[in-house]
Amino acid sequence: MEKLSGKKITAVLISGRGSNLRSLIKYSKTKKSLIRIVLVISDNFSAKGLNYANKSNINNIVIKYSNRKSFEDRLFKLLRRNNVDLICLAGFMKILSGKFIKKLNKTIINIHPSLLPKYKGLNTHNRAIQNKEKYSGATVHIVSDKLDSGKIILQKKVKITKSDSKKSLEKKVLKIEHKIYPKAIIKLLSSD
Ligand code: GAR
Repeated sequence: MEKLSGKKITAVLISGRGSNLRSLIKYSKTKKSLIRIVLVISDNFSAKGLNYANKSNINNIVIKYSNRKSFEDRLFKLLRRNNVDLICLAGFMKILSGKFIKKLNKTIINIHPSLLPKYKGLNTHNRAIQNKEKYSGATVHIVSDKLDSGKIILQKKVKITKSDSKKSLEKKVLKIEHKIYPKAIIKLLSSD
């Protein structure tokens, strides 16, 4: 049996590429990591990120999203059964209901590709460029019942240059996402 490590039992929820999942797995394997990822859950059978879980032998499960209620019922049972304490949304593109968040009563955090409270929701990079913002960035925040509105844990800026396209900005922001997600977890759990 694994020695009691004091690490937070963590699940990561994804919908697609999984580059943030990869950075969280990398962090979880460091000596000083405060988390142990026991489960990766996707709402999408073809999420590429599932490969990262497989490569690291992390239990991973796809829950088909036919409707929110049935998805959340299965998710709830899985998280409870695995004694999960911390849930990290990493490119998970479905909205969890306030009812689910309240019932689960665990910390759920999310990474969002903008400087919240600016540009909640989708298509953040295009909107930031169109509005001629000088900066964009990424935010890690607590998930609440209002979309992209919970308490901010950590945020980092990047400069938007005149030559930036949606694609180049996305690349810049993603690079800092991979750095700040583990840092935000350290900040959150160190203040526990
Ligand atoms: C990331 O940019 C993440 O911030 C964003 O989706 C991308 C997922 O990439 N999340 C949201 O927009 C959530 N509203 P990844 O699958 O490579 O981690």
